[in-house]
Amino acid sequence: MSTANITATQAPVTTIREIGRHEGQAVTIRGWLYNLRESGKLLFPIFRDGSGVIQGVVAKNAVSPEMFDSVKKLTQESSVIVTGKVRADKRAPGGYELDVSDVQVVQPVPESDPFPISLKEHGVDFLMEHRHLWVRTPRQASILRVRAEIIKAARDFFDDRGFILTDPPILTPAACEGTTTLFPVDYFGEQAFLTQSGQLYIEATAMALGKVYSFGPTFRAEKSKTRRHLTEFWMVEPEIAYATLDDLMKLAEEFVAFIVKRALERRRPELETIGRNLAPLEKIDTPFPRITYDEAVKMLQEGHAKGELENRFEWGGDLGSPDETYLSSKFERPLMVHRYPAAVKAFYMEPDPQRPEAALCVDMLAPEGYGEIIGGSQRIGSYELLLKRIREHGLPEDAFRWYLDLRKYGGVPHAGFGMGIERVVTWICGLEHLREAIPFARTLTRIYP
Ligand code: 4AD
Ligand code: MG
Repeated sequence: MSTANITATQAPVTTIREIGRHEGQAVTIRGWLYNLRESGKLLFPIFRDGSGVIQGVVAKNAVSPEMFDSVKKLTQESSVIVTGKVRADKRAPGGYELDVSDVQVVQPVPESDPFPISLKEHGVDFLMEHRHLWVRTPRQASILRVRAEIIKAARDFFDDRGFILTDPPILTPAACEGTTTLFPVDYFGEQAFLTQSGQLYIEATAMALGKVYSFGPTFRAEKSKTRRHLTEFWMVEPEIAYATLDDLMKLAEEFVAFIVKRALERRRPELETIGRNLAPLEKIDTPFPRITYDEAVKMLQEGHAKGELENRFEWGGDLGSPDETYLSSKFERPLMVHRYPAAVKAFYMEPDPQRPEAALCVDMLAPEGYGEIIGGSQRIGSYELLLKRIREHGLPEDAFRWYLDLRKYGGVPHAGFGMGIERVVTWICGLEHLREAIPFARTLTRIYP
């Protein structure tokens, strides 16, 4: 670190995002050198400060020879405090340029050990290995901004509709979503697990508060390497007392439409930086199409007959990625598939009274082939049936005593869903892989950095 005094600046400190308010004035920004171009007696350093990117202009005859030289030698990602006059320029990406008068170097990146991520192309493995530095690039930083906006939108949606945030535990004694994807934890000599979903606990708080939601990290020890699976991901889960599957589907479509609109409203420049084609997102509005699992099976079998799908889908199976992609490609809005066979779904789902082999559940599939973004259901109301299911699934009865209590003391029909934040970020940003949708992805093969 140099001895640069980061508070004794020459002009009022501002951010690149807000620099337009200071047109014609001298300001100071604090950030990093992103890139440097040279053209005769002019230097064009591009600075970033986390809020945005701006091009500076350093004219040889406007600064001291030492200053000109020190800017000329600046290396990528050196930290700098820059003072200059703000000038409007229609051609500049943010609308402004900075006529630089002073640059203090806070920490120069040595030429002998340059910033590993240069502006040329790198392989994704290399980038993931340097994720702690990769997040500085404009595209990655834009994705993180969109993610933050989606999380804020999700919270606002529920907060403004009378839902109370209740945080479920992360260390839990038992499974919620099947026993094959549990991360074990040694809990003072007892076996515990990282939570797969907050659902069971927010069923309890829903009986206390009516409408609740949780938002937190969830864990799946999935041995799958697909681009849609993380071992640690963030889920937002609403749970509502006195709600049916129909209420849930209505809530889910309003929720997702709200989030897409918010992202378009507030993060359009970032989505453009990412290179997202916005046209498909502009079409997202309620109502969303709804089909039953049986109808989905029919569509898949017809698709196979037409040669559009490799394998013939048989009733009773869970939908795989190619099936989801095929179904959702037939619609421009997210598709809700409801009433799957109970046998392929979780133990807690209420059977359809009209057809007990089907569960009162729904999955929402994002358009453009992005797959499942939401899974939810009405929950089993009957104590006896729930106990039977717990036994059938080989779950430890003792760990579920409290959960069974909820069906003993004033149980009511209730329902909820979970939406994976990274799945939605991946869809809205148009990414290829979930690993870019979270600051530090955890996958089957990666726990570094
Ligand atoms: O469908 P899932 O497994 O449902 C539940 O966990 C319910 N207990 C939720 C509830 O009813 N409250 O997961 C919900 C969502 C999926 O639709 C998907 O968006 C995301 O969580 N998800 C994953 N995201 C990233 N990596 C994984 N391995 C994921 N597994 C599920
Ligand atoms: Mg699911």
